[in-house]
Amino acid sequence: MRHLLSTRDLDRDTAIGILDVAEDMAQTADRQVRKLPPLRGKTVVNLFFEDSTRTRLSFESAAKRLSADVITVVAKGSSVSKGESLKDTAQTLAAMGADAIVVRHHDSGAAHQLAHAGWLDATVINAGDGTHEHPTQALLDAFTMRSWRFGTASRGRDLSGLRIVIVGDILHSRVARSNVWLLTTLGAQVDLVAPRTLLPHGVEHWPVTVYEHLDDALATRCDAVMMLRIQAERMRDAFFPSTREYALEWGLSAERLARLSPDTMVMHPGPMNRGLEISSAAADSRRSTVLSQVTNGVSVRMAVLYLLVSGSGSTAGAE
Ligand code: CP
Repeated sequence: MRHLLSTRDLDRDTAIGILDVAEDMAQTADRQVRKLPPLRGKTVVNLFFEDSTRTRLSFESAAKRLSADVITVVAKGSSVSKGESLKDTAQTLAAMGADAIVVRHHDSGAAHQLAHAGWLDATVINAGDGTHEHPTQALLDAFTMRSWRFGTASRGRDLSGLRIVIVGDILHSRVARSNVWLLTTLGAQVDLVAPRTLLPHGVEHWPVTVYEHLDDALATRCDAVMMLRIQAERMRDAFFPSTREYALEWGLSAERLARLSPDTMVMHPGPMNRGLEISSAAADSRRSTVLSQVTNGVSVRMAVLYLLVSGSGSTAGAE
C-alpha cells in the first residue's frame, strides 16, 4: 500500500487490517511514555490548503507519537497565498525530504494528482479533497462503530448487520462519500437522508437507500445516526428555505433523540453547527461519540502512517 487517496480503493481485508493496527495504536495511548519509534528519521508534511482543526492536529499528533519529524504548511502564511501552485509547493516540500505528504485541498482530485502526476516520490495521504473523499475520517468512524458495537472483541471484525443512517448535506460531503464506500465494503447497510436539493447527481447508483424525511429513516432501528455539517461555505445557491425549516425537518432534535434506541450512536465528524443539523441535547448526550471520534482519529492516523511510511506495512489492496 503506497498511498491512501480513497476508501473506494480499499478492499475488506485491507480496511480491517488498518482498523486492527489502529486497535494496537489505541492501546499505547494509556502508556506512561506514548512515543513509539517506527517513523524515526522520516519526515511527514501536513499540507493544508483548507482550514482544519481535527484532521490537521490529529495527523500531527499521530506522526509525532510515531517519532516522525513533522512539518505543517497551511495556505495562509505560506507562498500559496502568493499564488504558488500545488505542483511547485509539493515539489518544494519533496526537495526538503518529505517521506509522506498529508494533503487537504479544495479541489476534488488534488490528492490523486499529487500521487500520480509524477511530481514527487513521497507517499500521499488524502486529508480531504473538495467534495470527493476524506478516507481517514471514514476509517475513524468505522473504528468508532466497531468499538461501540464489539468493544474488546473488535479485532478482525467487519460491520455486517449494522444499519447506519447518514443525514444532511450529502451533496457537498466528502465524509459521506468515504463512509458510503467503506461502510458498505465492511458489510454495513447504509441509508442516506437529505432534502432532494442536497443529494448528488447519480446517488441512485450508490449502494444505499435514500430517504427524504428523517423521521421515516429513524422509524426503523439503527446502530448509528451520523449527522453531517451543512457546508455553507460551498453553497452558492439556496438549498433549503431557511435554517429553521432545515433544523425542524432534518435536524437531530432532543425529541428525535428521545425516540432513538438507547444503544444508537450519535455521530458527527465535526465541526458541528449546533441548533442546525444537531441539537446540543444530542451532541452532548451519553450516546454522542463526537469526542471519541476525535480520540480514535489519532489511533487510526497512526495506523495509516505506520502502514504506509514505516516500510513494515501490509501490501494487500489499495495502491
Ligand atoms: N472532521 C474534520 O475533517 O474536521 P476538521 O475540518 O476540523 O479537520
